[in-house]
Amino acid sequence: MALPNPREAFGQPKIKDLIARTKTYESLGGQDVGQIVRDTLRQYRELHRGKEELFEPGFINEMDAFVEAAAPEGKGGLKFLVKSQWDDWSVEKFDKFLSFRHSVRDFDRTPVDPTLLTSAIAASLKAPSVCNRQGWFIHYYDDKTKMAELLSYQNGNAGFTECIDKLIIVTGNLKAFTRHEHNQLFVDGGLVSMNLMLAIHAAGLGSCPLNTCMAYTKEQKLMAAAGIPENERLIMMIAVGNLKDEFSVAQSEKYSLDDVLVQH
Ligand SMILES: Cc1cc2nc3c(=O)[nH]c(=O)nc-3n(C[C@H](O)[C@H](O)[C@H](O)COP(=O)(O)O)c2cc1C
Repeated sequence: MALPNPREAFGQPKIKDLIARTKTYESLGGQDVGQIVRDTLRQYRELHRGKEELFEPGFINEMDAFVEAAAPEGKGGLKFLVKSQWDDWSVEKFDKFLSFRHSVRDFDRTPVDPTLLTSAIAASLKAPSVCNRQGWFIHYYDDKTKMAELLSYQNGNAGFTECIDKLIIVTGNLKAFTRHEHNQLFVDGGLVSMNLMLAIHAAGLGSCPLNTCMAYTKEQKLMAAAGIPENERLIMMIAVGNLKDEFSVAQSEKYSLDDVLVQH
């Protein structure tokens, strides 16, 4: 429906399949997608009001019965936007915001406000993902003994382990992807991780991404210690702490546009 000219009565076989699968899912106890499916089909139905003759017999009744099983909550279908909502932002402002994000390895020793960090995590979940699968988990640790144990498996936190106040491990959920989509787990996991580091930055906190490049056997031990189930894959750790009033970071000079932009 978000395309410029949606074909009239499009997708009938897929909608029938979607209704059948949603009913099965709900009969097995699944509660998370029914409202989204119904609200989406509700809008589809409105789009075709007065055009019922375009559909095969029985289709509209089946769809109406399915849709009306739940009151509208606006969780699916289209979202209407106006261009002026973009007036608040600019590349200059965004570039300035990005210019202040650094990998911080010297945190203040005061505790990070958990509510602030949780709100940043919540904001980061707006990241795009393939088919909106959102095949990721954000594991959050604040127990210092557990954090020290988990960081002992990681090879890039020496020298600043002690000042890390909170530890996050971003994982990808294998169950969200089919056989040919496994790399997508790392793409989507990377996108939500970047969103999270920017959200942490927006919250006025510091972060440092920490690689999870390690041998499979070590990874298994880390996952067991971290309470991460086998169907997940490690994307990265993120060390979090409060910013000191004054502190230093590595310059980490970036390539210029000319080094990277390949015009075709
Ligand atoms: C996936 C990933 C893993 C990283 N792992 C580590 C690490 O283990 N230890 C560390 O000190 N920095 C680590 N970094 C931080 C990079 O060194 C840093 O992003 C890079 O030097 C650029 O600096 P900047 O983040 O300040 O722009 C990692 C960064 C990424 C994206």
